Amino acid sequence: SPWVWLNEDYCPADQARVSVFDRGFLFADGVYEVTAVVNGKLLDFHAHMQRLQRSCQALELALPWAVETLQQIHETLVARNKVQEGSVYLQLTRGNPGKRDFHYPDASVPPTLVVFTQSHNILQDARVESGLSVVTCPDIRWQRCDVKTVSLLAASMAKMAAQAQGADDAVFVKDGLITEASSANCFMVTPGGKLVTRALSPAILPGITRAAILDICQQHQLEIETRAFSPQEACGAREVFITSATTFVMPVTRLDGNPIGDGRPGPVAISLRNAYLARFG
Ligand code: PDD
Repeated sequence: SPWVWLNEDYCPADQARVSVFDRGFLFADGVYEVTAVVNGKLLDFHAHMQRLQRSCQALELALPWAVETLQQIHETLVARNKVQEGSVYLQLTRGNPGKRDFHYPDASVPPTLVVFTQSHNILQDARVESGLSVVTCPDIRWQRCDVKTVSLLAASMAKMAAQAQGADDAVFVKDGLITEASSANCFMVTPGGKLVTRALSPAILPGITRAAILDICQQHQLEIETRAFSPQEACGAREVFITSATTFVMPVTRLDGNPIGDGRPGPVAISLRNAYLARFG
């Protein structure tokens, strides 16, 4: 059984127990982060922890662990579980008040912290060669999608709807415009060659990978337009791609059955993917 972290200590995964009254379980009252691991090293760890602090502030959720402690926990689990490539999942919930009550418990109830690792191939992903086929799906999520909460049922439903249509993933559409993918941010390259991604707002998660890609573009003096775009505009784009900690930059080659560009992964997506990975040696 792999090691996990639960509250105060490391323990084997098959011995980790959380109460049925935990607010994460009853109210999806919690936040999370997923940090990629490549060659046994965490990618953009500090940016993920900054976003965790931001999510906690938004929900008035206490985070009684220093970032240095969280880093120690991440690194220890990666080492003990011998993760070369994969991810570390951290979840913080509002703990166990011992009953079901909508109101937050008082500060004497400690939050529940769970950290575990997953090993999977994220560098050699066959989908990079083919590109993803994605479908649009109404964005039925709540109005604070900028907070990374564990309330992920709408994302699961969107992924299931995509699967039922034989697609790889879904992008959410709100008021005729793409917000983001079910678990990634969305970009396109216009016919004129401009890179476009939606501006940050409560409608999308401020992706760590998105921010890194914007930073790379700035360094290379590539122009970026931060604005929303419609599925119709995306269908006429040269390229579409999505970004997340676990997919890095992933080309999208079909949208609702329509080929994007020539129907193959584009050069901008591929070079940004390589530039992103090059940052971590
Ligand atoms: N998801 N938008 C949503 C809705 C997400 O769930 C994610 C990440 C992103 C990309 O953020 P980042 O680049 O910081 O990973 C955007 C993670 C990977 C998940 O739920 O597994």
